[in-house]
Amino acid sequence: MPLFYKINTYGCQMNVHESEKLAGLLEKMGYVQCPEGEPADVIVFNTCCIRDTAERRALGNIGVTKAEKKRNPDLIIAVVGCMPQQDGVAETIIAKYPYVDIVLGTRSISELPAEINRVLVSRERKRKKSDKRYRAVNVGMPEKYLEIDEATPTVRTSYPNAWINIIYGCNNFCSYCIVPYVRGRELSRNMNDILDEIKRSVDAGYKEITLLGQNVNSYGNDLSDGTNFAKLLHETDKIEGKFRVRFMTSHPKDLTEEVMDEMAASSKICSNLHLPIQSGSDKVLRDMNRRYDREKYLSLIEGLRKRMPDIGITTDIMVGFPTETEKDFEDTIDIVERVRFSNAFTFIYSPRKGTPAARMEQIPYAIKQERISRLIKAQNRVTKELSDEYTGGIYEVLCEDIAPKFDGMACGRTDSGRLVTFDGGRDDIGKFFNVKITASKSASLFGHKEEK
Ligand code: 5AD
Ligand code: SF4
Repeated sequence: MPLFYKINTYGCQMNVHESEKLAGLLEKMGYVQCPEGEPADVIVFNTCCIRDTAERRALGNIGVTKAEKKRNPDLIIAVVGCMPQQDGVAETIIAKYPYVDIVLGTRSISELPAEINRVLVSRERKRKKSDKRYRAVNVGMPEKYLEIDEATPTVRTSYPNAWINIIYGCNNFCSYCIVPYVRGRELSRNMNDILDEIKRSVDAGYKEITLLGQNVNSYGNDLSDGTNFAKLLHETDKIEGKFRVRFMTSHPKDLTEEVMDEMAASSKICSNLHLPIQSGSDKVLRDMNRRYDREKYLSLIEGLRKRMPDIGITTDIMVGFPTETEKDFEDTIDIVERVRFSNAFTFIYSPRKGTPAARMEQIPYAIKQERISRLIKAQNRVTKELSDEYTGGIYEVLCEDIAPKFDGMACGRTDSGRLVTFDGGRDDIGKFFNVKITASKSASLFGHKEEK
């Protein structure tokens, strides 16, 4: 009987991808992915701490494993990633969750196999009464990042999309954000390593490459070889094969004309951009330390649409930042109506310990809730209007999956990133189709395949 592993992932795409690498490490050790309903031998929680909700969800689920460990004392429980990297949190986990064996921060997750082996050896010795229990804690912040990138096979879980990291960490210190504290300073991967990984993924049949980084536009700043994000896009576009390229996340202060030109000139890079605005108020943007204003953001949008009239632009918006007044919030609604994002991820500001904004006077939760519901309403209106514009058109769609809610239907995305549900099945996953859009419902488009 093989030994089973289970990985529970919270948070962003970066975490989803790092869990694919953790799976690679565990499979190299001989563990097999745990079938649904079976008990696991190793459970890994790959955590997030961007908002309070993400932390509470992970802690709740870690708590549930107490009973599992009672049933199976040989079970190994590991808590890794962003949450334990925060000041004092690793110690709290060790103290409050005695059944957790391993705690690893963002820069030591590649130590998981070595730590599992140490735990197993110490359990054996303890059985022979010659040792005390070993529990691993490593939340150091070395200058290096995961050395597993080039050496470990990734167990990809998002076919036909392959996630590929290009830069780790963040130097921006937006005043609300915990990421620079838990992921450290920016570290770019070597460009040839990235291009090799893209080529390997395309050769293996992946049809969409998503380049990942907290701020992809900073790619290369820390390398002294003159590479930058625009050059990486240029080289990526030259790789042979039929595939698409997307990337996230872009910081508006670092999005250059050169990058926009590369996007427009390339045949593989999608006309799709995730460009978090966070707020439409100049004062709040200043207090957030975002280093751009409304005017700059709007001029970027203009530059993008001039080059790529059909571009789909998505964003992140936060409401309830400490200094946000009703007037500031109205500026956010105003910019949502001006820019016309195809979609917006909306968040209620959540104070994060150790960040400057958490030390400011906070605004009542009821106000935040009221603002987010107004924001969602405004964005939904825009999304619906934009969806209607697709009706009647024919778009190339990469089939990504079977449609979760509709029998006999598949789903995929247009080049601009819009989700389309159309007639299709499992065999269509990973193939491109021309789809005629016949109907739309809020953010979703519906259509059918056109004969080529
Ligand atoms: N509270 C709420 N949302 C946050 N984000 C980052 N930090 C916080 C916070 N403290 C949001 C931002 C970012 C997205 C990934 O999460 O909008 O772009
Ligand atoms: Fe956080 Fe700002 Fe860095 Fe994004 S750019 S990860 S919001 S500090």
